Amino acid sequence: MTEPHSEDLLHIYPDAQSLCQACAEHICRRIAPGDQQPFHLALSGGSTPRSLYQRLATAPYRETLTGNPVHFWFGDERAVPPDHPDSNYRMARETLFEPLGIPAERIHPMRPLPEAMPGAASAYERELEQCLDKNDQGLPRFDLVLLGLGPDGHTASLFPDTDALEERHHWVTPVYVDKLASWRLSLSFPVLEAARERLFLVAGAGKADVIRQLFIEHRPLPAGRLLPSADTFWFLDQAAARELSS
Ligand code: 6PG
Repeated sequence: MTEPHSEDLLHIYPDAQSLCQACAEHICRRIAPGDQQPFHLALSGGSTPRSLYQRLATAPYRETLTGNPVHFWFGDERAVPPDHPDSNYRMARETLFEPLGIPAERIHPMRPLPEAMPGAASAYERELEQCLDKNDQGLPRFDLVLLGLGPDGHTASLFPDTDALEERHHWVTPVYVDKLASWRLSLSFPVLEAARERLFLVAGAGKADVIRQLFIEHRPLPAGRLLPSADTFWFLDQAAARELSS
């Protein structure tokens, strides 16, 4: 496998391990060492990034994440307690925050409560307002947003057939996902689009069909609004990319 050009927007790696290593290297390149400016990183959830976070907690990546003022945010969260097995915060805490000893002031969990979702969304917006620079439309600018892809084409918790897809005013939006019968909190598209960079991490044969729908059939799926473009990178393993032509 020849290494793709460093600024190619779509990278395909032989396996999940090389994919994670490439993502870890890409993230650490973006965290400009030594300038001591806060780096605001939004984490994705689900199962795919677990091995990436575990890798980031090892040398040489851990030194970059601990030696620079990296702030850890979340692209979305399930409306469950922070110690629930489905919690994205719990997964990041176990794989990244605790192993790296990240101080609490650099960790920004979403705190969705099924009975108070609008309040939870507003609270996260206030935290974004306080901590992040704004672009010329007044939107908070993450330095890097990690994103995953669901088999239905959702990313973050912007699921098909939900009102969240059309949210253009709020930065953080509650989403009720019928098929999961559960609430989620998600960054909205305007905030994802305002980030300096987006990095999709997609692995496994289970994503080959949705990758084909997005890249070959150009189906209007939620993640299709963020296809490879300037500052939007897609990193796939061969299994997820198997239906793409060479
Ligand atoms: C979440 C994620 C979500 C995830 C996709 C893929 O909270 O579930 O943010 O967008 O990235 O559902 O999940 P897997 O990596 O588990 O396939």
